[in-house]
Amino acid sequence: MIDLRSDTLTQPTPAMREAIANAAVGDEQKREDPTVNELERRGAEFLGQEEAVFLPTATMANQIALQILGRPGDALLVERHAHIMLSELGGPAAHSGLLTIGLEGTKGRFSPDQVVSEIRDRTSVHVAPTRIVAVENTHNSAGGRAWPLAEIDAIVATCREHELAVHLDGARLVNAAVACGVPAARIGEGFDTVTLCFSKALGCPLGALIAGSHELMASARRGKHFFGGAMRQAGIVAAAALYALDHHVDRIADDHARARRLAEGLTEAGVDVDLEQVETNFVQIDVGPDRAGAIDRMKEHGVLVSTTVHPTVVRAVTHLDVSDDDIETAIAAIPEAVTRTGAPAGR
Ligand SMILES: Cc1ncc(COP(=O)(O)O)c(C=O)c1O
Repeated sequence: MIDLRSDTLTQPTPAMREAIANAAVGDEQKREDPTVNELERRGAEFLGQEEAVFLPTATMANQIALQILGRPGDALLVERHAHIMLSELGGPAAHSGLLTIGLEGTKGRFSPDQVVSEIRDRTSVHVAPTRIVAVENTHNSAGGRAWPLAEIDAIVATCREHELAVHLDGARLVNAAVACGVPAARIGEGFDTVTLCFSKALGCPLGALIAGSHELMASARRGKHFFGGAMRQAGIVAAAALYALDHHVDRIADDHARARRLAEGLTEAGVDVDLEQVETNFVQIDVGPDRAGAIDRMKEHGVLVSTTVHPTVVRAVTHLDVSDDDIETAIAAIPEAVTRTGAPAGR
């Protein structure tokens, strides 16, 4: 089975498993795990921030970031299909008492003007003051799209000008960095807080970082305990993340090339793929109204894909465990499954 449902499905490689097996460990709650300490040091550097804190998941990193950047009753601006908005169970309201305002995005992005137009009167006793902006890069539900650096810089500058805190959900920041041809630190450095996930393109079994200033990370360490994310001999997992920083960053360009090949092959076969959308490791395929049927038929042909927020669109994601041969097999199988709906694979 060729599993293109998500880049979270990777198995740790034999070399990563060896790094895990050989990890020096200690009690990370006491800051005595040398491998976690080293990952936090490297991670801060990697993300262009002063300090980083190791966490089990990117959801926890986002939620801790929002909690430390705001106060109950504050308003948070986020693109309306962002992971924070759609897939974190209303966490900003539940954990931090934030009012989340969804901005209408284009390709997962929003403009400085959109931010400014949502800044409310912060002196009013009636209005929830806008205090936090969250950017997602790459943007998952937009199809893994990367923000151009100039737009990131413009949003960050606007937030600074208007005294808004700004968080980067960089669960897939490495994909954005590779797509833009810049180090991840160049994208991350302007933000107050940055999330990075190790269990997506980086191919680790779990793990994430939150990064920011020393002051904010002191609060994040408290948040880590508060959310139940403080671990013990977590160097076992941090070793995989260190291995990934050394060996799995540059290779992400291969995932992107495979996604492009898949998109072009499917387009040539008459399947409705928006080639412009394919900037990183996601291919969005419009299969028409019978999406569930198309997914089942792809499965019969040995290819697994997943749904998206768009009702006729499925998603194929390339990752560490998808080879060139897998892509060619998928290019042969998917058109067969899509065209058997009886409807043209049109948008
Ligand atoms: C953009 C984005 N942020 C955060 C997350 C949450 O990651 P985790 O599953 O590690 O909590 C995801 C997961 O898919 C994501 O796509």
